[in-house]
Amino acid sequence: MPVVISMLNSYSGWAAAGIGFSLNNSMLIIAGSLVGSSGAILSYIMCKAMNRAFLSVILGGFGAAEGAAAAGAGQKTVKSGSADDAAFLMANAESVVIVPGYGLAVARAQHAVKEMADKLIEKGVNVRFAIHPVAGRMPGHMNVLLAEAEVPYDLVHEMEDINNEFGTTDVALVLGANDVVNPLAHEKGSPIYGMPILEAHKARNVMVNKRSMASGYAGLDNPLFYLDKTMMVFGDAKKVVEDIVKALH
Ligand code: TAP
Repeated sequence: MPVVISMLNSYSGWAAAGIGFSLNNSMLIIAGSLVGSSGAILSYIMCKAMNRAFLSVILGGFGAAEGAAAAGAGQKTVKSGSADDAAFLMANAESVVIVPGYGLAVARAQHAVKEMADKLIEKGVNVRFAIHPVAGRMPGHMNVLLAEAEVPYDLVHEMEDINNEFGTTDVALVLGANDVVNPLAHEKGSPIYGMPILEAHKARNVMVNKRSMASGYAGLDNPLFYLDKTMMVFGDAKKVVEDIVKALH
């Protein structure tokens, strides 16, 4: 969907540039070309982030296997814990990688997350943020939220830079993210097969905050939630993070 929107945006730019040629209006040609080319570049970047050919994104059925994937979720069990448990685990960790997703934006939890990161850093924990290129609902969504909360840029790492670090990370804290950490992307036949993900499942411990077991944008169940080393912390991201901050005091 975002690729389609971005392509339509790009076409509107090229159309404006075309009209500029017929009206002999150089302003319209320049503005149209800028809109057209930036839309095309954005579409290309998003296709690359999802490891998809442009045509397969436009014509493919992303999330079509929703029913089948959700059906298997019934019998599985998850471990859940409280904000206090999460605070205890992170305060005693050497390294924590926070993976923000769409839920963080919905909950407007970015300022609480910054406070939590500050508290952990005070305690000597190595805290970093891992950003997936299509986390949230628009390009750069997570970067904008973290910048708004004045999270220092050197704590924020792009997927390519941090993916190798998960294996040596004590705690991966997934905050309102789902598809961008879904290991189904490594399984052949899955609708998201081949999409690069943040490999939070490789961390020694995983904590996932979301409100329920509902699926994300792609409509798929997420095996990460059922791992032995995963603890679900259910609740609104802002409330949960604020409770973690209180527990860290
Ligand atoms: P999603 O896979 O959409 O998952 C977000 C999760 O946040 C949901 O599972 C939801 O679970 C949880 N959530 C919602 N409100 C919350 C709240 N108040 N507190 C805590 N959790 C909450 O998000 P993602 O991992 O960021 O992945 C993005 C997806 O959107 C990708 O599939 C991507 O392709 C797609 N997309 C991206 C873009 C761009 S350009 N970024 C544009 C359109 C679509 P609960 O309901 O259980 O809480």
